[in-house]
This record gives sequence, C-alpha cells and structure tokens, in this order.
Amino acid sequence: MPKTKKTAAKSATKPKKTTAKSQEATPKKPAHPIQSVRGMRDTLPVDQPHWLRVKTAVEETAGVYGFDRIDTPLVEETALFIRGVGKATDIVEKELYSFETKGGEQVSLRPEGTASVVRAYVQHGMLNLPQPVKLWYMGPMFRYDRPQSGRYRQFMQAGFEALGDDDPIVDAQLIIAGWNLLRKLGIESIVKVNSLGTTDSRLNYKNALVAYFRSKKAKLSDEDKKRLLKNPLRLLDSKDEAIQELKAEAPQIVDWLDEDSKSRFMRVLEYLDEVGVPYQLDPYLVRGLDYYERTVFEFYAAEDDQELAQAALGGGGRYDQLIEQLGGREDSPAAGMSLGLDRIVSRLKDMDKDQDPHQALLDLSQCDVFLAQLGDMGRKKALALFEEFYTAGIPLAEAFSKANIKSQMEIANRRGAKWAVVIGQKEVLDGTAIIRDMDAGTQEIVDVKKVVNEIKKKLASLQK
Ligand code: HAM
Repeated sequence: MPKTKKTAAKSATKPKKTTAKSQEATPKKPAHPIQSVRGMRDTLPVDQPHWLRVKTAVEETAGVYGFDRIDTPLVEETALFIRGVGKATDIVEKELYSFETKGGEQVSLRPEGTASVVRAYVQHGMLNLPQPVKLWYMGPMFRYDRPQSGRYRQFMQAGFEALGDDDPIVDAQLIIAGWNLLRKLGIESIVKVNSLGTTDSRLNYKNALVAYFRSKKAKLSDEDKKRLLKNPLRLLDSKDEAIQELKAEAPQIVDWLDEDSKSRFMRVLEYLDEVGVPYQLDPYLVRGLDYYERTVFEFYAAEDDQELAQAALGGGGRYDQLIEQLGGREDSPAAGMSLGLDRIVSRLKDMDKDQDPHQALLDLSQCDVFLAQLGDMGRKKALALFEEFYTAGIPLAEAFSKANIKSQMEIANRRGAKWAVVIGQKEVLDGTAIIRDMDAGTQEIVDVKKVVNEIKKKLASLQK
C-alpha cells in the first residue's frame, strides 16, 4: 500500500481531539427559522385546486385559439431585457434581478416573457415558418418591485404571442382570447384600450406632452421630473396626485395618431364590438414596457372601482419593431398579451371564500381504489402490487406507514374509495387478494395475479 494511503487510513481511525474550534462547529438551533424570500410565496396544497383550474383554462384556451407551447429559460442575458423591454422602464431600471455568473456573463431572471419569445423566434429561424407563428407560455417571472397585495417579486404569467402578422384582427383576437379565458373562470372583465400610434406619430405626441408638463414642472415630484426627461409617456400612468389632476388638461394621444394607426385602431374596436367584448377607451393607457406601438390594452375585473386600477389582471399590445430590434428580419410585426395568474387565482379564492379550502383539497385527493395491507409480509407484497397498478395506469391511494387496518379503512373512506384491495399474511401465502366493496361492505377473494384486471373492469363499469 502506498505510504500516503496508509497515513490517511491511520488518521481516519484515530479518535479526534475535541478542540474549542470543533465544539464551535456543532450545529446550533438557529435564532430565527428561515422564511421564504420577501415577495416570493409558497403555493400550498390548499391553493393547488385553484391554480390547477386556472392553468387548465389557459391550456384549453391556447389550444382553441391555435397557439403552440413554448418554454424559455428563466435566465437570459441582461442585454435582452435592456434592448427588449427598454432601458428607461421601471422594470429594467429598478426591478431586474441581475447577477454575474461565475463565467462573467451578465444575466437576469426574466421579468416578463415577450422578449424571450422574440429571442427564441429569431434564434430558431421561426421567421421562415408560415406566419403568424402563435406561441404561448406559462411560468414564473421576477421583478424586484415593492411587494404588496397582488404584487409579488416572483409571480406567474401565462402569455400568448402572435408573431409575423400586422392585421388588426390579430390584436382583437388576443383581446377576445384573454377576455374569454377570464370568463371561462367566472371573471367578468372589462378591457381598457388605447393606441400608441407609430414611433413617428408618438414622437410628435411626446413633444407636445413634454411641452405641456414642462409648463407645470413646479408641480411635479422629483421622480416625475426624471420621467419627463427619460420617458415622458410614463408620466401618464404615474400614481402621483398632482399628475392625476394635470392629466385632465394634457394632450391626448388620439389627436396625434397617424391616419393608418387611427384606422387600424378603429378596426380593432369594430371587431371587439362584433363579439361583444366590453371595452373602455383609455387615452392615458401607455403600459410600462417600451416595445409597444399601436394597440395597447389591459384587463380589469368588471366590478372593480378606480381604487383597484393598479391590479390589472393582464395586458398586452402590438410590438411591431421588437423582432427587428432583437436581430430579426425587418418588417416583422407582432402582438401579444399576458395574464397575471396570481391575481386571477386570488380573485377565484375570493369568489369561493365561503367554501372550505380543505374540502376542495379533499375533493382533489379523491381516489376510487385504496390498497390496504396487514403485517410485514402483506406490506411488502402491497408495495410491489402498487407498482403493478402504477404500470397499468390506475391511480391508487394507500397508507403504507399505517399498520392498523381500521385506520387504513378510515383513510380509504375519507378519500372516497369505492374499493379497497386488502393484502394480509394469509393472502400472501395463498397468492390471493381481497377486494372489498366499501359501500356494500361485501368482499371477494381473487387471484393476486388477476387483481389489477379485476379492478380495471370495476373502474370501467363506473364509466358506463
Ligand atoms: P405586464 O403588464 O407587465 O405585461 O404584465 C402582465 C400582467 O402580469 C399584469 O397585468 C399583472 O396581472 C401581472 N403582473 C405583472 N407584474 C406583477 C407582479 N409584480 N406581481 C403579480 N402580478 C404581476 C407584460 O409582462 C407583457 N410581456 C405582456 C405582453 C405580452 N405584451 C405583449 N405580449
């Protein structure tokens, strides 16, 4: 044996001296238990039924409107969001979770999905597919915002993007899809709509707006003075009281729209009228992301008053320059929208607040078949039998850690089992299993090799 190994083996068996340092290393009970990070929440089992309902509605709606699923990474190059979302937006200026990787790359947790979808569209040559390419996604987004009700640092969005088509009917259909999705969930919503025109018409409007607010500069907060310099349109959705008053006299974008944008906007509204989607024209709706032009919109729950104006359930619009800005072909128009699922779930919870949330969870955990076991041999056999049911695709409830048959039967009842398959020592020795009809209280003994099939037949009879 080489010398070094011998030494290592020796030192491994030698009892260690207790020094002051090693005593210090003994783990201590922490003064405070670790909590989840501020603005980031656990989705507990009691809330899962609501989330499942929302996610299912998103998936079904995406299917009906012909969107294909895309998943993009949670982390992207920071440059993507600076270029995509805009340098002077709150999202990029204040809310990005950015860090340098060990390899020195500047990356960020995604604050939204559109920039990533456009990156993927360009990167994978989707401009060569028949247009529009319609993609949807669902997943967590991250914004280092001040947490409050309905605003989190990690939140879920579902998004729908239609890339490569400039027809206003695309804008209208995105709005209709969002409105319908909410309706499917029992949420009546109203859509606020506006048109931001093209870059050129917006520039003229911006100049008029800056001239107006400059004349009122004394009334602006420091934050709003900065906005006036960097991103004057954002003044329109400032929550500052002074701005609220000044806004009433401010120039409105509709008066600065070019003819083409105006007629496109009219068509979007006509399509919404045709389907009966309730909307409100909001000349101050500018949205917090820089990539928009022409149609912009936001969804609000219909019964809400002005106070809840912050809590949009979703929003979107047209972003005809973004594909080109991110390295795609010139003249590649696109539009999209996303919904804030945390806000939708909290509305559903409010709507169901009279229902016992634990009952909903219990309903979700209902299972037609329960596998019970008795004694060591029975438990071992049951563990193996569970795998046979799994392979056959039959969901099965169990309580393997419980030895007592009475408590197992109580669990079977709570979970709504119609049949219990019972395996004890006698059954293992005989190569059989008992099938107990939980309602009738009757039992039959079957060959253990046939028990999966027998249960299959019984489950099939339930479908009839
Ligand atoms: P957004 O308006 O920034 O748009 O976000 C869409 C929705 O996500 C909001 O209406 C809201 O419901 C939800 N949301 C945003 N921030 C938070 C937060 N901190 N906590 C909880 N929910 C939040 C976009 O992100 C665009 N990418 C939408 C889009 C898609 N435009 C074109 N295509």
